[in-house]
Amino acid sequence: MKRIALLGATGSIGRQALEIVAAHPELELVAASSGSTPIDGLAPLTQVGGDLTELLEDAEPDVVLNAVVGFAGVPATFWALERGADLALANKESLVAGGDLAVAAWKRGGGRLLPVDSEHSAALQLLDGRPPDTVDSLVLTASGGPFRGRSRSELADVTSSDALAHPTWSMGPKITVDSATLMNKGLELIEAHFLFGLPYDRIEVVVHPTSVVHALVRFRDGAALAHLGHPDMRVPISYALTYPERAETPVEPLDLATGLILEFEAPDLEAFPCLALARAAGETGGTAPCVLNAANEVAVAAFLDGDLPFLGIADVVERTLAQVGCTPANDLTELAAWDAEARRIATELTRQLVHQ
Ligand SMILES: NC(=O)c1ccc[n+]([C@@H]2O[C@H](COP(=O)([O-])OP(=O)(O)OC[C@H]3O[C@@H](n4cnc5c(N)ncnc54)[C@H](OP(=O)(O)O)[C@@H]3O)[C@@H](O)[C@H]2O)c1
Repeated sequence: MKRIALLGATGSIGRQALEIVAAHPELELVAASSGSTPIDGLAPLTQVGGDLTELLEDAEPDVVLNAVVGFAGVPATFWALERGADLALANKESLVAGGDLAVAAWKRGGGRLLPVDSEHSAALQLLDGRPPDTVDSLVLTASGGPFRGRSRSELADVTSSDALAHPTWSMGPKITVDSATLMNKGLELIEAHFLFGLPYDRIEVVVHPTSVVHALVRFRDGAALAHLGHPDMRVPISYALTYPERAETPVEPLDLATGLILEFEAPDLEAFPCLALARAAGETGGTAPCVLNAANEVAVAAFLDGDLPFLGIADVVERTLAQVGCTPANDLTELAAWDAEARRIATELTRQLVHQ
């Protein structure tokens, strides 16, 4: 039996995780949380909002599935890493904002860190057990989102409902907007750097519209291995929850004979500057990725509220990064202070942009 704590149980990942848990008697849901939606009776222990580490202390899970959206998921990630509980991590913002501290906590705790992001789950499966010196580079694929192929000027008037119409993945609103700006792939680039210890110049992003190839690893002998599958999050959720068993899922096997289209293209960094901003913040290091993440959360919320134009998201992120320093944080308290400061500045910059 594996005792599972599911954080963010009411979200897109959370609901799919409930389906996986229900299908596997060896997975026992011992605790569940949401941000504000009532979840009485969903698990023996439930919590709505508040400090999620209190729920985890009470539940003593073997596996924490962190499917909270945003920086709010950071303390639970650190709790699991520090205690050596297995962490099935959907909340990519944790590793982006607190990567250095998280990796140190992971080493101290000694548990497993199993990414739920489909690209990182794929990369883990490709890299697992390979000597690091045989690996040349990692390629993360991006669908390109609903605005793929549009020029910067064609993005000026797009609305949140345009951005929420993702072509291949069905996800929560924040990550769907992140996919439309390509910030999602930028966050994933930083996440991959910390998960797999690869330098940024050995992680490439390519656009792959059908989202069938989730990641590809090039090896030093010229061979490349790719991970393929339908774009269905139940596969990486199940992989993380049942690791190393690779349990069955209801997802259909890939049918190559029906004609599989594997097209790739370079991302358009002029139309989608968030990807380049994330790469630069990752390379700068320190709290730059934390600031990037905080500014992005503020800007995406303003865009979803209809206050900020689509192109304003990258503007707010870029200007916030220019105003907030990037001294490394020593602990979670300092990290939270950097996050709060970046949010304060990003909120002010958003106000200025809206009233321009
Ligand atoms: N969806 C995907 O396919 C996908 C794929 C890869 C990675 N991810 C990552 O997985 C995470 C979750 O994504 P999602 O699409 O499932 O998001 P979502 O549908 O918006 O769900 C977010 C969950 O977090 C909870 N929550 C929100 N704010 C909270 C707070 N302040 N404290 C505690 N809980 C809070 C929500 O509760 P309420 O319902 O009460 O608001 C909900 O259960 C994100 O980090 C995302 O980047 C998602």
